Amino acid sequence: MIFYFTGTGNSLYAAKTIGEALGEEVHNLADNIKNNNTKLTVGDGEILGLVFPVYYYSLPTVVEEFLEKVEITMKKGSRCFILATCGATTGDSTKNAKDILIKKGIQTDYLFSVEMPDNYVLLYDVQDKEKQDKMLTSSKDSLKKIVELIKEDNKGDYNKIKGPMPGVMTLLAGAIYRRGRKTSKFHVTDNCISCNLCQEICPVGAIEMKKGKPVWIKDQCVHCLACIHRCPVGAIQYGKRTESRGRYINPLSGL
Ligand SMILES: Cc1cc2nc3c(=O)[nH]c(=O)nc-3n(C[C@H](O)[C@H](O)[C@H](O)COP(=O)(O)O)c2cc1C
Ligand code: SF4
Ligand code: SF4
Repeated sequence: MIFYFTGTGNSLYAAKTIGEALGEEVHNLADNIKNNNTKLTVGDGEILGLVFPVYYYSLPTVVEEFLEKVEITMKKGSRCFILATCGATTGDSTKNAKDILIKKGIQTDYLFSVEMPDNYVLLYDVQDKEKQDKMLTSSKDSLKKIVELIKEDNKGDYNKIKGPMPGVMTLLAGAIYRRGRKTSKFHVTDNCISCNLCQEICPVGAIEMKKGKPVWIKDQCVHCLACIHRCPVGAIQYGKRTESRGRYINPLSGL
């Protein structure tokens, strides 16, 4: 049973790849929150997995919410892994997820991280296609190794890309992220074809279609950037800064 959160498909691709290799079902954790489906049992021999993108060296707010709300019964013989996908460094995000689970009496057996193309177009442009392809090829290898480690039951912390001073970075940057996440700068251009996709994919219902155009109805959201990247005509912008920047969807994710 693998739970994932994704904006642009990296974490979905990772979750699906591991799920297929281990014969575990894959679930979008945002749906579990929406449907109030938060009571889970992980049977003997089964694996609980959590896969998420790193935001500001921290956990996306919706992942934190899922971990706080979920009631999990781990049967004897079950195991648990946490995997962060990121553009470069994770800070203490994997440890933070592990610590929340410990408070619920759940031990995490493996901590992993995988570098994938960076989608944070509010700060930087997307990487060029060649760099993205290289990262995706190397992420395939990393995921293979992760599957082997789980199959062989080599327990441990395999997240080696926490970056310098992970605890401090996560504390400081995480606070900025949680306070920020404002929606006021999202806007839509005349290119919008009223397909509704942005409303459908927003994990927290922050977008409503009004007169055929998206309107951001909450002050804050997760800032997953799914709406910006996945709009089929690139009609969603954030202030002026995303106008000249590219868009990214993981080509192996099926999104
Ligand atoms: C709001 C936000 C903050 C991010 N912060 C970080 C970060 O602190 N470190 C990092 O390496 N990547 C960061 N990224 C990049 C994503 O973690 C990375 O591209 C991830 O694989 C995206 O996963 P997804 O495709 O499943 O959404 C950030 C992306 C977003 C949208
Ligand atoms: S996804 Fe893009 S085209 Fe579709 S409704 Fe939203 S803004 Fe308009
Ligand atoms: S409004 Fe856009 S960026 Fe914010 S949570 Fe919804 S899809 Fe993600």
